[in-house]
Amino acid sequence: MTGPRSGPDAGSTASSPPEVGLPALLQVLRPIFRDHRLRLGLGFLALVTVDFLQLLIPRFVKSAVDALSAASATSPQLLRLSGYICLVAVFVALLRFIWRNLIIGFSRILEKKLRDRLFAHILRMDQPFFEQWTTGDLMAHAGNDLNAIQMACGMGLVAAVDALVMSTAALAFMLAISVKLTLIALLPMPLLIICTRVLSGRLHHRFNLVQEQFSLLTEFARATLVSIRLIKGYTLEHFQERQFADLGARYVRSNLKVAVIQGLLFPIATLVGNIGMLLLLYYGGTLVIEASISIGSFVAFVSYLYMLIWPMMAVGWVANLAQRGATSLRRIHRLLTRQPLVVTGPTLALPATATVYACRQLRFTYPVATRPALVAVDLEIGPGLLGMSGRTGSGKSTLCKLLLRMYPVADGQLFFRGRDVNLLSQTDLRQCIAYVSQESVLFADTIANNIAFGRPEAAPEEIEAAARAAAIDADIRSFAGGYGAIIGERGVKLSGGQRQRLALARALLCDRPMLIIDDALSAIDVETEQEVLEGILATLAGRQKTVLLVSHRVNVLRRCDRIVLLDEGRIVAQGCHQELLDNQFYRAMAEKQQNHA
Ligand SMILES: Nc1ncnc2c1ncn2[C@@H]1O[C@H](COP(=O)(O)OP(=O)(O)OP(=O)(O)O)[C@@H](O)[C@H]1O
Ligand SMILES: [Mg+2]
Repeated sequence: MTGPRSGPDAGSTASSPPEVGLPALLQVLRPIFRDHRLRLGLGFLALVTVDFLQLLIPRFVKSAVDALSAASATSPQLLRLSGYICLVAVFVALLRFIWRNLIIGFSRILEKKLRDRLFAHILRMDQPFFEQWTTGDLMAHAGNDLNAIQMACGMGLVAAVDALVMSTAALAFMLAISVKLTLIALLPMPLLIICTRVLSGRLHHRFNLVQEQFSLLTEFARATLVSIRLIKGYTLEHFQERQFADLGARYVRSNLKVAVIQGLLFPIATLVGNIGMLLLLYYGGTLVIEASISIGSFVAFVSYLYMLIWPMMAVGWVANLAQRGATSLRRIHRLLTRQPLVVTGPTLALPATATVYACRQLRFTYPVATRPALVAVDLEIGPGLLGMSGRTGSGKSTLCKLLLRMYPVADGQLFFRGRDVNLLSQTDLRQCIAYVSQESVLFADTIANNIAFGRPEAAPEEIEAAARAAAIDADIRSFAGGYGAIIGERGVKLSGGQRQRLALARALLCDRPMLIIDDALSAIDVETEQEVLEGILATLAGRQKTVLLVSHRVNVLRRCDRIVLLDEGRIVAQGCHQELLDNQFYRAMAEKQQNHA
């Protein structure tokens, strides 16, 4: 119930499809890059210009030092050189601001576009999808994975280009001064690349653990808050508190492990840089003494060596960012390429047939189940009030969900107005049906907004009329705030029966040709139940409407034109109340409820 889940990707590993290649993955990003090519082009131009401008500074220093050591330096010359350095610094600052805005801004745009696409895609998915991917998985994708892609396409790309340009140019300048000295000074650099590669790999791994721990922590807090009444009922507060503290401690430990690596990375870089400097001072100094190079060249060389340290570090870092980005992109790609199993067809003008819905030998097995939930159901659902009953688990809700097209059905088994549902537009079909599910779904909003959910444009009078038909109007008026009262998360401020009637009012307000009520009057007392029934019958009066009413109550069922009895996924009897009294299950149910009344 409230136990922590097993990592962000737990539910999605069940049926891993074959790995897709990088080019196919990059197709997801290509259109976004294409749309912003101008922005990116300008951004990278600014970035490369910054690199070249920075490389100029050691040249100015070289000229100044050479002039000083030759004792030929004049004040105006020194002033001019420092003026150039200042000017370059100003340009560098300006261009840095520009590329940051353009390139990092692009990575944020990319993240937003991917997030919107992912959200729209998830909204289009069907019930089997939501049974495979948990809320936690989807939240992890929307958070961590998109973030990793954004990092790879933003800072990752910047660091890659920057490191390439900087290192190539710095190396060229160094080689121009002295090939031998360059080779000597570069000796420790591979060590730096290896160290950053290893350490930043560890860093990412540990960072992932931190994020996983954080997901577990937040998921635990969420699950606890959602089931707070249950926890109090079972007096589990201390137990939950200990578990929470435990998760918190693990989160802190994993954060400390990250800090250890981060603490190592920079000192190592400086150490390696200083080893290079040691070699440079010794051999470079000798070259200056031998007068093979000037003091100015030596000073410039030192600056270029410092400039190389960052690109060398970046190589390892960028490799890891790219790896992480590709892994996340693969996960997002897997989500985006999942198609709903429920097929949908074009919009068709449908004839008004006598039968609204027809099931022909309808069979259905849930995606992960071994036993079928419905077996060869033959049923005609026409205008009027059709009751449905049967033992718990007999398949009533399953049938309702199939009528709503929440799960896929095979061809030739389900017909809406004479057409196979697999040839019809899902949206068009659903727009013909108002559905009240077995568990009422309400939002932390006002009562009026909860009722008007399916028709946000409905006038207050219409909302009140729907509430009256669902026999909830009087209750609403008794609340402080009336229709404007906020009902709390999932309607916690309402009684079970009030929640059910509110959900019914929502469906009645939609006024669609077909109404499916899945056992949604179960928490209502017998008197109110009759009042609600009158309300539903009134909406039917004189109109070609179809109502499918699932119920365990004989008092409700007896008002139906026809009743269908299900057992183990089969229809075992159908007829009116009187006819069904011949059925053993129905008669026993009727007698029991008679005795209790
Ligand atoms: N999402 C699901 N995945 C797998 N099996 C399911 C799923 N939903 C329901 N089932 C199974 O399908 C069978 C029929 O369930 P269904 O919900 O249709 O029963 P029901 O007649 O509505 O029962 P109740 O009167 O308790 O609401 C049950 O055995 C149930 O365990
Ligand atoms: Mg049910």
